[in-house]
Amino acid sequence: MTAPTLAANDPCHCGSGRKYKRCHRLPDLDPARAAAEQTARDEAARRAELYVKPGKLSPRREVPEHIARPPYAHDPKGRPGVRESSAPKDAETLAKMRTAGKAAAEVLQIVGAAIRPGITTDELDAIAHEECIKRGGYPSPLGYHGFPKSLCTSVNEVICHGIPDSTVLKDGDIVNLDVTIYLDGVHGDTNATFFVGEVDEDSRKLVAVTKECLERGIAAVKPGARVRDIGKAIQEHAEGHGYGVVRAFVGHGIGRAFHSEPQVYHYDNPTARQELVPGMTFTIEPMITVGDWHHEMWDDGWTAVTVDRSRTAQFEHTLVVTESGAEILTQV
Ligand code: MF3
Ligand code: CO
Ligand code: CO
Repeated sequence: MTAPTLAANDPCHCGSGRKYKRCHRLPDLDPARAAAEQTARDEAARRAELYVKPGKLSPRREVPEHIARPPYAHDPKGRPGVRESSAPKDAETLAKMRTAGKAAAEVLQIVGAAIRPGITTDELDAIAHEECIKRGGYPSPLGYHGFPKSLCTSVNEVICHGIPDSTVLKDGDIVNLDVTIYLDGVHGDTNATFFVGEVDEDSRKLVAVTKECLERGIAAVKPGARVRDIGKAIQEHAEGHGYGVVRAFVGHGIGRAFHSEPQVYHYDNPTARQELVPGMTFTIEPMITVGDWHHEMWDDGWTAVTVDRSRTAQFEHTLVVTESGAEILTQV
């Protein structure tokens, strides 16, 4: 059965007394408008696909009894306790940090080599976990302030501290792997951003410039320079390419403690007047964005993403100030 053919201004067939066009007449389907609406729905679906979503966590990974744990691993909340000072390290500690740094760099290289479209970030976590243990070390992120995994995996718009889960890496993604190992009483902390399959030109440029930012930061390290000079060098290079510098996360002193003084800003912060002296150990780890550098946190309390969901990259080394410059400790 079909509705009777009525003119727009006729009384409606339903008996309401209202004009047909104001009552039961179906809206005209304007083909252009219908197509535009479909396009908008497709675009929304595509964008939802485009951005990273929380996945499912695997059960907590075990660390064998014989592996020495950092103090926070014994605290249910993973609290690190007292903060270490930024005082120069003695030769013995430096030797240990060289060993831990090398181990961290090796683990980063091995996990990085496993990256391919189709692998999950949890599978990468499993590799990092095993490789730390193989070297006699404890994967520092595990349990630190309650962090649930052994590695940080930060994909595309994730700035840092992404939690490995069931997320599948896909062709065209960029992913930062942040490895820290606790070995013989000290930490080695390093990260790098990797390509998953074929990556677009804009992302490749972002990653290249971010690596250069770390190199510029390291080049600014020498006795007598100030912490501020590191951030200044990084900011100039990043902004010279039209990129943003994330402010909310900083490099840090490192040694027996995972994070200590000084705070190493990646932008020019005039309050960072501390002078660099030989033997000081810290990380430099710039996070650089294509767009807005402001961040937002996921509900998990860890994952930091750019507010505008633009892509972001990071590179990190642990280093020691020498008589003439810097020695990178996180090298294979
Ligand atoms: N490795 C990170 C850094 O560079 C810290 C990770 S803390 C964690 O400082 F809890 F998220 F693992
Ligand atoms: Co660090
Ligand atoms: Co790190």
